[in-house]
Amino acid sequence: MKVVGFVGSPRKKGNTTTIVNEVLRGATEAGAETKIFNINELGIRGCQACYKCQTPEGKCVQTDGMAPLYDEIFSADAVVIGTPVFMFQVTGQTKIFIDRLFALLYLKDGKPGAFRNKIKGKKVITVYSQGQPDTSLFASSFDLNEGVLSFLGFKVEGRIAAGGMASLDSVHGDQAVMNKAYAAGAELVQQKQ
Ligand SMILES: Cc1cc2nc3c(=O)[nH]c(=O)nc-3n(C[C@H](O)[C@H](O)[C@H](O)COP(=O)(O)O)c2cc1C
Repeated sequence: MKVVGFVGSPRKKGNTTTIVNEVLRGATEAGAETKIFNINELGIRGCQACYKCQTPEGKCVQTDGMAPLYDEIFSADAVVIGTPVFMFQVTGQTKIFIDRLFALLYLKDGKPGAFRNKIKGKKVITVYSQGQPDTSLFASSFDLNEGVLSFLGFKVEGRIAAGGMASLDSVHGDQAVMNKAYAAGAELVQQKQ
């Protein structure tokens, strides 16, 4: 069982990283192998709309920091995708990462609109961290993000949204969020057994 975390925060020691790490700790202690990547530091360019990813291999042709992440996703049983809320939405870094997952879809017999999912059923847990205390404020944005992940073929297993995360270490004072994160990670592994 392998669980891989992706963090779309520019703050490597921020709340999103802490929560994603807690999901991974839950998974590790339940027996999984885990890894974490900070999207911000990998130098990932935006999708160039060349459509050269539209092959059964399901990888982008750009040779940047995204290139090794496809195999990480293909070999994982579950992924965790965490992002702070910037301007009501996922961060730009997270959006670029998700755009590049367009490669996970490919055209059936070359016909536009007839997509097959390369990663159908792979589990994902989403993590959001925001300054505003009320986590229902941006729920429509979270729904949209998870709609895209479902469209790509992921099975959304859970959402952890943390509100009131104004300073770098706010989440350390929110035991309920940390407990939820740990339990979500452990559950990923227990479901598999
Ligand atoms: C550019 C920017 C935009 C932000 N927009 C929002 C927002 O729309 N709503 C909100 O509640 N918090 C907003 N925040 C606060 C962050 O979501 C919050 O501090 C979050 O916990 C940061 O996550 P991190 O600690 O993982 O970096 C914004 C912060 C920045 C820097």
